[in-house]
Amino acid sequence: MSESLLQSIRAIESRVRAAIAAAESIETLQAVERDALGKTGELAQILRGLKDLDDAGKKAVGQAGNVAKRAIEAGLAERRAALEAAAIAVALTRDRIDPTEPAPRRLSGHEHPVKAVMRELEDLFESMGFTVVDGPEIETDFFNFEALNIPPHHPARDTQDTFYVAGGPVLRTHTSGMQVRAMRKLGAPLRVVAPGRVFRNETQDATHEHTFHQLEGLVVDEGISIAHLKAVLDELLARLFGERVETRLRPHHFPFVEPGLELDFRCRLCNGKGCATCKGGGWIELCGCGMVHPKVLQAGNVDPERFTGFAFGLGIDRLTMMRHAISDIRWMMSGDLRFLGQF
Ligand code: DAH
Repeated sequence: MSESLLQSIRAIESRVRAAIAAAESIETLQAVERDALGKTGELAQILRGLKDLDDAGKKAVGQAGNVAKRAIEAGLAERRAALEAAAIAVALTRDRIDPTEPAPRRLSGHEHPVKAVMRELEDLFESMGFTVVDGPEIETDFFNFEALNIPPHHPARDTQDTFYVAGGPVLRTHTSGMQVRAMRKLGAPLRVVAPGRVFRNETQDATHEHTFHQLEGLVVDEGISIAHLKAVLDELLARLFGERVETRLRPHHFPFVEPGLELDFRCRLCNGKGCATCKGGGWIELCGCGMVHPKVLQAGNVDPERFTGFAFGLGIDRLTMMRHAISDIRWMMSGDLRFLGQF
């Protein structure tokens, strides 16, 4: 009796070993384990018959059963490890990403056209010996208005309505406040440009946005005159357009410059004859500018008896629109990929 049981155990073991070797998945392996070692499995049934054997039989069959069980367990563990390793290897090849592969062209980001022009202007002014300075977008009333000779009830505040922050500060309406900040920080003589974002409470249309960009320029030294101002802006245009461009200065009022001016350049589309771009006039306005008002120099702790200076404020969005023939300023802040994808 015990001899036939021992034979059955050997038969079960070799059958189970073959099934283990043939299992191609963890699930199949689990089924093999259940059939062989489960409570109702073949080995369990045989061991249940032990009670009918004599002591020697119990010992022999019991031992053989345990040996077979351990051998099957070891076989299962080994096969499971092999199957898991294979599964990981497959997943690794399937999910591999190549971080050096370029992103699909359509999805790659790039510099905004306004930012590109801003950078170009910075390089250009740096090459002329200017330092690029940066300042706060949330500005005090003092630097945005008062230090620029715009007292609380001055009408110039109407044309530069902005967003007021509780407690006094404003979203800066222009980069001109940087004139006074720069003079206080760097002293005279100095040559700086301050590019950045500015804000106005505007009704939006094709040429007006609540958020746009300016680049402020300021030169202070002994003996600075309008001739220096014109030379710098003429040079700027020559470098932007790749050739010398005719310019003119017109009087204009800005409280922080005296005299205050606007600089126009000859329309390049019609050569000054008059077209839609220059609205028939033959000239295109580039920027407000002028000789720094003595009160502004004083606010910057610069002695107006000794130093003079000129300042200008360029609209970067406008320059970008001219460069790329963009007809509506609202595209700039739109974040619309149909627009941005063109640059
Ligand atoms: N801050 C003026 C504006 O936003 C532009 C301006 C005019 C800047 C004259 C200047 C200047 O530096 O001298 O309308």
